[in-house]
Amino acid sequence: MNDPKADRFSAVDAEALEQQAMAEITAAATLDELDAARVKYLGRKSELKQALREIRDRDTGMTLNALRERLEQTVAERLDRLGREKLEQALTGEAVDVTLPGDELPVGHLHPTTHIRRIVEDAFLGLGYRIYDDREVETVEDNFDRLAFPEWHPARSPRDTFFLDERRVLRTETSPSQIHVMLEQPPPIYMVSIGRVYRRDEITPTRFPIFHQFEGLAVDRGINLADLKGTLLHVMRALFGPDRAVRFRTHYFPFTEPSIEPDVSCPMCAGEGCRTCKFSGWIEMGGAGMVDPEVFENVGVDPDEWSGFAFGCGLERSAQLRYGIPEIRPFWESDLRVLRQF
Ligand code: DAH
Repeated sequence: MNDPKADRFSAVDAEALEQQAMAEITAAATLDELDAARVKYLGRKSELKQALREIRDRDTGMTLNALRERLEQTVAERLDRLGREKLEQALTGEAVDVTLPGDELPVGHLHPTTHIRRIVEDAFLGLGYRIYDDREVETVEDNFDRLAFPEWHPARSPRDTFFLDERRVLRTETSPSQIHVMLEQPPPIYMVSIGRVYRRDEITPTRFPIFHQFEGLAVDRGINLADLKGTLLHVMRALFGPDRAVRFRTHYFPFTEPSIEPDVSCPMCAGEGCRTCKFSGWIEMGGAGMVDPEVFENVGVDPDEWSGFAFGCGLERSAQLRYGIPEIRPFWESDLRVLRQF
């Protein structure tokens, strides 16, 4: 009892130390605070560690070691708790919520000309036609000669047509596809050719030097004008709705005999009469007719065995009517304020 060393050890009041340390460890609100408490009570220079180094008697040793273990245990528990709290906070506070809508990406849509083109393609595919993708640079021979254009025809003039040289032109119509397909394969033929054509026109609200046409050709045994009318009716209804009617007016084209101009009942006023149809109730939709025997002979098809019809219509014109677009220019101006509307 009188051992001066024993006095020194009794200076460590284990109970008071435990109370104080436990209070600080459990009160540590952050990992930094916890670490500070750990160093203070369990670090190498802590009161407890120093006392442990100088232990002489067993009882004190057991008491202090037990205290060290309890403190270490409490620090570990607190560390675990604070770690989980921190993770929890990160998950709720900083986490990316994958269920939130993302930034909207601008999405485009089909150009009205492309949309019309697909309607026309679908209508003809449904009839068993072949889609024929053809060249835009043509020979004078296929663009004019084999289509039986007379020498005097104004389209043969460089004032109406873009000539690349004496023998080659930018096609003025999709009709030369009739020639190509008939040279490529024997009848029966059911084909539609869609693409750009070129004419030396001034740009006006209704004319543009580039535009698109779709050209159909059917060659088989016993084909007649009624087949042509039924086919055009099918396509016009696909374009302008099931109530449309079709009528024929006689006309002249070099490569058809007889030639006609098909009209569709006005989609704007349902045939009542309006400004678009100039109060006639009908809209002209292009050209058509029965394939001229001279054309058949030019491509080696026997006109006594085969007959056929052909037709050509403008895609922009169809789009104008379907969407009520009064001019052709917007189709080529790429103005999104306009195109977004269709
Ligand atoms: N190729 C003519 C044009 O561009 C349209 C045309 C008329 C096409 C009669 C035809 C047809 O197939 O038979 O004006």
